[in-house]
Amino acid sequence: MTLSILVLNGPNLNLLGSREPDVYGRETLADIESSCAKMAAGLGLAVEFRQSNSEGDLVDWIQQASGTHAGLIVNAGAYTHTSIALLDALTASSLPSIEVHLSNIFQRDEFRHHSYISKAASGVICGFGGFGYQMALEAVARMVKSVEEA
Ligand code: DQA
Repeated sequence: MTLSILVLNGPNLNLLGSREPDVYGRETLADIESSCAKMAAGLGLAVEFRQSNSEGDLVDWIQQASGTHAGLIVNAGAYTHTSIALLDALTASSLPSIEVHLSNIFQRDEFRHHSYISKAASGVICGFGGFGYQMALEAVARMVKSVEEA
């Protein structure tokens, strides 16, 4: 059976491509999704992309992921810096999870330097634009495959 990775995107990431392109680049979320889908196929994995501006949707999707998906990639957008609910959902999940940010949050406003969800993430990738999602996919692929082989 093909293992599936769930890629969750938080608020305002639906605007990628037109939103602050100097910070986030010109790639749309659909562009990132299609490059990840191609890469996943090469890795023998499936990916499912979702985006919501609502914190509760993201919490629900993390809760529902176990059983259907083998790993998570999460760009929680601004909820990264505010959401104990997302931290709790990731902590409760048994799935490996990679936190991704397009921008280098440590070069930006001070309030972006702290991530609530990093405490529950297996690893964090930031500052590589849309390519960071592919890096995360490669990382989570290794993690889910090593679990599968164990
Ligand atoms: C972001 C960084 C966050 O600080 C910001 O609120 C976002 C996007 C990133 O991908 O760089 O919405 O997560």
